[in-house]
Amino acid sequence: ANDKPFREDVHLLVEGLTRLGVTTLVTAERGDTKLEAHAHERFVFDTIFSLTRTEVRRRVHRTLSVVKSRGQDFISGSHSMRIEAGAGILVYRRAQSRPKVDEDQPTSSERVSVGCAALDLIMDGGLYEGSITMVTGISGTGKTVLGVQFLTSAVLAGRRALLVTLDEHPRQLIRNAASLGFDLEAMVRQGSLFIHYESPLELEVDVHFDRVTKLVEQKGIDCVVFDSVAVYEMASPEQASDFLYALANFVKGRLATAFFNYESPELLGVSQISEELKGSHLVDNIILLSYVEISTRLRRAIAVPKVRGSKNIQTTREYVIGAGGISLLDESVVEGDEATPVPQLPFSSYYGLLARSPSRKSPVIEDAVAHGKALPDSPELPPETAS
Ligand SMILES: Nc1ncnc2c1ncn2[C@@H]1O[C@H](COP(=O)(O)OP(=O)(O)O)[C@@H](O)[C@H]1O
Ligand SMILES: [Mg+2]
Repeated sequence: ANDKPFREDVHLLVEGLTRLGVTTLVTAERGDTKLEAHAHERFVFDTIFSLTRTEVRRRVHRTLSVVKSRGQDFISGSHSMRIEAGAGILVYRRAQSRPKVDEDQPTSSERVSVGCAALDLIMDGGLYEGSITMVTGISGTGKTVLGVQFLTSAVLAGRRALLVTLDEHPRQLIRNAASLGFDLEAMVRQGSLFIHYESPLELEVDVHFDRVTKLVEQKGIDCVVFDSVAVYEMASPEQASDFLYALANFVKGRLATAFFNYESPELLGVSQISEELKGSHLVDNIILLSYVEISTRLRRAIAVPKVRGSKNIQTTREYVIGAGGISLLDESVVEGDEATPVPQLPFSSYYGLLARSPSRKSPVIEDAVAHGKALPDSPELPPETAS
């Protein structure tokens, strides 16, 4: 009640300055930023910004929001703010506030190669331009390798590529890729491949969004790999799904083709793709990379359960990683040395094959249960005579 005269003085001062045509900036410290606290100020001032500073896991996070702005529209919500040396205050607008492109979203019936002919075939000719592909599997299954393979093949086809690497430092990534015969350094040098790295520990999603979208726009990127999007969930759990949605929208709006690499926590198969990603219309295609244990050997298996708008082939295939990246094995490959070749059976011939998810069993077991048949005696071993 005591500050009433003071408030009136401020009011008079601001009015006086306005009459003189002076643009005035007034600062005030606030314990709480609730709107009521601004009640009287809302009459006096044309524009009100509210700034906050919080610590999230010992990292400072600043936000700026516009409380009011007379006579002009503004983007609501709290935006990320940074104070940077040599620059002052930088504001990164809330990633999710980007305009939705749903209505006038461009589409294309052009296909982009995944970088592996056999996989293109499974996907009914490759990826649609402007589609989002989720590549999922646990660590070591080859998500990064497939991402590199996709981008290098895109570059060779005359496209411009961006690798957003969050799991691995570019140095390490370039070295690993070189061991598979990919010369990323040369592509970076010639300006057709861009590698963007941010430490997952320091990542702020709004800032990251701003950097990535600028890079895509300025460099005319049309193929991009996010390796991996699990980092967004880690950096900002509550915002991750909105953020991915915004990212997908942006990519699609530009008709760019993207990989969202996603680390799944399961060793064998995938039953727990995060809810946001699984059911959503965000992802057009899903490529599953997993291990299959046959007898005492872990083998690599690839499946493509979803290709939007295409007739994909629903067969799990075995693949290997080597020079050139991922390659799919022919279903009739012969293994072993020349003297004693061992025919390589397709996965479907093994009834001891592990289920992909708790609810799904091997086809042989499911079939037997459905028809009330007894299960084979030795489910671990392939049948003597494969039909
Ligand atoms: N030069 C190479 N030769 C053969 N296999 C390789 C080579 N480089 C990587 N790999 C295989 O690829 C795997 C790593 O794949 P990566 O794409 O990094 O997995 P993810 O990204 O899914 O964690 C390694 O575990 C290894 O088995
Ligand atoms: Mg990886």
